[in-house]
Amino acid sequence: MTLSLRPQSLAGRTILILLFGFAIIQALGLGIHTVNQINLARIEQQRVIATQDVIIYRHVAAIAPDQRAALLGTEPIPSGDVISLSNSPPSRNTTFALPLAARQILRASIIGYGIPPAIRPRGLELRGAVNPTRYIVSFALPDNQADIHPPFTLPPDDEESPSPNSGPKLQLRAPMMWLSIESPITRPEPWRSPEFGTAFIVMSLLGGVMIFWAVRQLLIPVRTLAFAAERLGRDVANAPDLPETGPAELVTAAVAFNTMASRIRKFVEDRTFLITAIGHDLRTPITRLKLRAEYMDDDEQRLKMLADLDEMEAMVAATLAFGRDIAATEAVTRIDLPSLLRTILDEAGDGLPERAGALSYDGPEHLAINARPLSLKRAIVNLVNNALKYGDAARIRLTQKDPGTIQIDVEDNGPGIPTADSEVVFEPFRRLESSRNRETGGSGLGLSIARNIIRAHGGDIALLNMHGGGLRARITLPL
Ligand SMILES: Nc1ncnc2c1ncn2[C@@H]1O[C@H](COP(=O)(O)OP(=O)(O)OP(=O)(O)O)[C@@H](O)[C@H]1O
Ligand SMILES: [Mg+2]
Repeated sequence: MTLSLRPQSLAGRTILILLFGFAIIQALGLGIHTVNQINLARIEQQRVIATQDVIIYRHVAAIAPDQRAALLGTEPIPSGDVISLSNSPPSRNTTFALPLAARQILRASIIGYGIPPAIRPRGLELRGAVNPTRYIVSFALPDNQADIHPPFTLPPDDEESPSPNSGPKLQLRAPMMWLSIESPITRPEPWRSPEFGTAFIVMSLLGGVMIFWAVRQLLIPVRTLAFAAERLGRDVANAPDLPETGPAELVTAAVAFNTMASRIRKFVEDRTFLITAIGHDLRTPITRLKLRAEYMDDDEQRLKMLADLDEMEAMVAATLAFGRDIAATEAVTRIDLPSLLRTILDEAGDGLPERAGALSYDGPEHLAINARPLSLKRAIVNLVNNALKYGDAARIRLTQKDPGTIQIDVEDNGPGIPTADSEVVFEPFRRLESSRNRETGGSGLGLSIARNIIRAHGGDIALLNMHGGGLRARITLPL
């Protein structure tokens, strides 16, 4: 036996494929959401830092240059931030440039905060550094002598502000001072929010449930079709038609199925009719032959001929009965199965008083089932007759296997049937050599008829050899 991880059912496979696709979509969605969230969190962080830094800058820029260093010590700054005054902005070798968007946010803060033109920064640097990860914002401070310096215009977005060396050459008095504020950056945590987790779980569950539900819905018609085909195989005459309603594809399938079923039914009816007609028409010539045989002089030949004709007559009668059985459409009623089994045994005992002791019933007192009583009786009688004829006993045992199935075993003391023949004997007119030798008579139709009837009830018959000898004919029937 090979172990396969692939589900065996169509539903299982479809669900697996859809769930796999759904998982990929979820993962992609999660990825896009994460990138967006990280970007949003960065922008928000940059905005907050820019606003804080512009406020600090304003305080520092507003006072006289010689008092600025003293102010730094008293200026309230966010914890973790480092603030410093120097002659140059941070070195470009130890820091890296931040994207254009970050500089735009800083520019927007300066303008938005409404810093008076006189104390606007003469230069602006925005750099990033690692270990620890942080932003460094550097403002070139004005020396509060606006008439000497050219009015400051913010550097264009797409280039860094002038480095100290390439900066304005117009440095008449003190060198330009830079105020640098370093702010640590916290790593964005896009999955932290409780709403996100809940939403993700609810979405995944909903998606999964929808997939299960949709696949089940989709496969109901497949199951209906399989069930209908199974019923047709068991009971061609009585299998109901499929309803021709629903979506277009289902209607097409149902119509095709019903057409096929009616053709099969017609075919079986024609064959049965043919057999019955031949059997029927043979009866008249057989009767004529019997009459003629009576006039034969040779006693021995006459008796042999009459015996042959009797056998032919019996075969014709059995053939007619077979045709009748196949065509029969008896109504299903609720019957007590143990009573039926006991009646069968009683009648068998009446017919064969010498075997009455070899007949027994073992099972529940009462058990109601839905069945066609006459047909079911004929099927079981055929098994009981076989058991008596070939096995000198008939023990019936009725058991309920699981809630939906019952078993009727008919056991005997005979030689059993070679395993290779245990299916063959169900074919019409099939008899085994041993039964011919014993001249037990019979047409070879009993098992064939019995199986037809039991299958029409939704069950089946199997022949099993028992360990201690004897045959067990087992009928399984749905309750
Ligand atoms: N209980 C049994 N033990 C041994 N052989 C059996 C038993 N039941 C059936 N058989 C074999 O299976 C053959 C087919 O049985 P089936 O009942 O179909 O026909 P039959 O008994 O020969 O004739 P009919 O039942 O039509 O009078 C029998 O001829 C016999 O060889
Ligand atoms: Mg028989």
